[in-house]
Amino acid sequence: MCGIIGYVGPRSLPEVLVNGLRRLEYRGYDSAGIAVVDGGETRVAKKAGKLANLTAELAEVPLPDGSAGIGHTRWATHGAPNDVNAHPHRATGSNGNGSDRVTLIHNGIIENYAELAAELAADGLVPVSETDTEIVALLLGREVESGTPLPAAMRAVCRRLEGAYTLVAVDSDDPDRVVAARRNSPLVVGVGEGENFVASDVAAFIEHTREAIELGQDQMVVITPEGVEVTDFDGAPAPTRAYHVDWDLTAAEKDGYDWFMRKEIFEQPRAVADTLLGRTDAEGRLLLDESSISAEELRAIDKIIVVACGTAFYAGLVAKYAIEHWTRISCEVELASEFRYRDPIVDARTLVVTISQSGETMDTLMAIRHAREQGAKVMAICNTNGSTIPRESDAVIYTHAGPEIGVASTKGFLTQVVACYLLGLYLAQVRGTKFGDEVAATLAELQRTPEAIQRVLDDLEVVHKLARDLVDAPSVLFLGRHAGYPVALEGALKLKELAYIHAEGFAAGELKHGPIALIDTDLPVFVVVPPKGRDQLHDKVISNVQEIRARGARTIVLAEEGDADVAAYADTLITLPKVPTLLQPLLATVPLQVFACELATLKGHDVDQPRNLAKSVTVE
Ligand code: F6R
Repeated sequence: MCGIIGYVGPRSLPEVLVNGLRRLEYRGYDSAGIAVVDGGETRVAKKAGKLANLTAELAEVPLPDGSAGIGHTRWATHGAPNDVNAHPHRATGSNGNGSDRVTLIHNGIIENYAELAAELAADGLVPVSETDTEIVALLLGREVESGTPLPAAMRAVCRRLEGAYTLVAVDSDDPDRVVAARRNSPLVVGVGEGENFVASDVAAFIEHTREAIELGQDQMVVITPEGVEVTDFDGAPAPTRAYHVDWDLTAAEKDGYDWFMRKEIFEQPRAVADTLLGRTDAEGRLLLDESSISAEELRAIDKIIVVACGTAFYAGLVAKYAIEHWTRISCEVELASEFRYRDPIVDARTLVVTISQSGETMDTLMAIRHAREQGAKVMAICNTNGSTIPRESDAVIYTHAGPEIGVASTKGFLTQVVACYLLGLYLAQVRGTKFGDEVAATLAELQRTPEAIQRVLDDLEVVHKLARDLVDAPSVLFLGRHAGYPVALEGALKLKELAYIHAEGFAAGELKHGPIALIDTDLPVFVVVPPKGRDQLHDKVISNVQEIRARGARTIVLAEEGDADVAAYADTLITLPKVPTLLQPLLATVPLQVFACELATLKGHDVDQPRNLAKSVTVE
């Protein structure tokens, strides 16, 4: 949510900043802007709308190469997405009473901004825009004008701010320095030779350096071409963790695909395989990536609560079936945004599992903090090395999906499900509910899924035709049961967010308790049919398909290949390779992702940047 970049070094600032913003645009695309410090002056260019508007502006009125600069792509919180509210913000104020030295960008929300604005007004400092960011710029400018150097001014201002923020500022009188600070909002440092970067995400500087430093909570960094200095808000040196980014620029590019999302859908076989790679020791025992939770503590656990948002929440819903089945521990799954507000029963015997692709989702982070305050251990499943959620958790399993840039999560979801399964098997191994050979057998089944996912991806013609047929459908239903139920929810979410079509996911068994009233000839209904097993789930879902068909709706059935029972009731049949029921979500989700992507493309929507959305939701 909001993309941020800062740079000091010999390269052309407008080029570095705009290229960085291009890779961060998925974080917000309401407006974009850059500021360049050049020989005692700071020049700003900013435009409402997508980055292309800013680049058009820069083509008309170029900015100088400069020595230091900052760039921002915005997801609006305070104030409409227009040119004035676009970042960067100068500290000059509407009446020119402020400072013309300081320029600032911000990601997050300053909760006490009204009180600070009143204080500034009493001092004759009045903002131009409606943003909380400009209030911080005015505060910083006031400090700097009173003789405080920018780093100390930033520390002083940060101590007064409440809420969530990443702030990055430049001072035109100090042309080789960028100062940045963070609380509850992401910021990483990119370490180069004779140049340095700060950004909300390594994608912004990956083409220049793959050496990064993770910043902790309430830390500040000053970058110059020669060095990087990290302190806390009192100025004391702060501990940092340096890491090497193990993916390169090609992973952050479209590579010939029309959309990042489509590329990411097609990367899923590899992403799942990578997430499964190297998970066992020489004796075949499963391992976690990082953990400070002892085996004794895991054996003492009597409840698991999975907390996550959106698609990651649906991954948690899938995981519940496997975790309870394998570990025999009760597993609840809860929306992170609801968790801490309902006074949940959490104690030292609770394992809270958080799932987050970005590792920065504020609702999830707040749930972690609440859980830890109650004494629970927290296990993170995350795709982003160096992000806040794994850092604030007791243990972590990384999904190795590589960067996910399309706003709608795809490979993030599949790898989250896989990582949850690894966790379920790990717990079962530690607690003795599953033994070495059973763990190995399930792992072997999981290892076969990348190939099965590839087979789904090789046979998409029916899905493309379906998207063409249903391009004008006003509403679509998705039904599933058992692990297929979250798949239905995910299929509906993908369609809503990309195609802007009303869509609902239901548990198939609930059809008769209400949703069946919606069924008529105009309503397409997707049904995920479980594989034939020993229980009767498969037959019951086929009865649902018949009930829908009998009422004249178009049935689109996802079922395993060779399932002779479904063909008669499916207007469209999407076949899936044969896998055990618990693994079917890894296959059944894929055609639904493709369907949403395709249908949104046909409607002419921007699939990678759907309206009103942003990746990495860093506000509550
Ligand atoms: C939907 C989607 C979102 C995210 C949710 C959580 O396609 O991407 O629903 O899944 O915002 O994000 P993370 O996983 O980054 O915590």
